[in-house]
Amino acid sequence: MTEFKIYDTPQLVAREFAEFFQSLSNSFHENGKELHVALSGGSTPKLWFNILAGEYKERINWKMVHFYWGDERMVPAIDRESNYGEAKRLLFDKIPVPTDNIHPIVGTTPAKDEAKRYSELLLNNLHVEEGIPVFDLVILGMGPDGHTASIFPNQMELLNSREICDSAYHPGSGQARVTITGRVINKARYVAFLITGKDKAPKLKSIFDHNMHSGQYPAAHVSPLSDMLFYFVDTDAAQRIL
Ligand code: 6PG
Repeated sequence: MTEFKIYDTPQLVAREFAEFFQSLSNSFHENGKELHVALSGGSTPKLWFNILAGEYKERINWKMVHFYWGDERMVPAIDRESNYGEAKRLLFDKIPVPTDNIHPIVGTTPAKDEAKRYSELLLNNLHVEEGIPVFDLVILGMGPDGHTASIFPNQMELLNSREICDSAYHPGSGQARVTITGRVINKARYVAFLITGKDKAPKLKSIFDHNMHSGQYPAAHVSPLSDMLFYFVDTDAAQRIL
């Protein structure tokens, strides 16, 4: 089931996704299970962090949630580019989540070494099927070029890599990254895209239409085996599919 949920503003996208996240995490809790979630980077999730830290702070049992990252920029945590650093500043510092439940990719380690370490961590912490760690939820964004996580159009081999995590680099800035690979993304129980902004509209249209160009965009290759794929998008990003 692929579900497109379209809302008027990025704030409404974040709010509706907070509702989705609350019901998913609480359903896991009610079944005595912890929720293992991979966070995305970029700007869109920050709106969601603010809402979680505010009105949802008391609505979620944070002790039952473990936070990981789908990708990280290889910079120190205090750097505003750090996906972990921004989540800590906007969310973790404001909610009663146990420190042991937070599993950052360490940005000050050489990318190849950290990719190996994080792969081992995921294998140790998560349920594993066919040698692949299974996240309960992977949250993704999409860049204007159709990248997702840190799988960029010029590194499509990361989609089917045998690695669990691998090193990558931003094609524009050359910034070193660590990313989970396409097989890990597509093994997740639930996958949710948070996509906002009109600069995403052309690629989202291409992916929505499954047209001849979409294959060149990594985000188009996100197709979880669980079939539980949700797009939370604003009307700007959805303007060509409305
Ligand atoms: C990152 C992200 C990346 C992001 C997209 C969308 O570390 O940059 O993981 O994949 O999700 O670039 O970013 P925005 O939400 O800022 O548009």
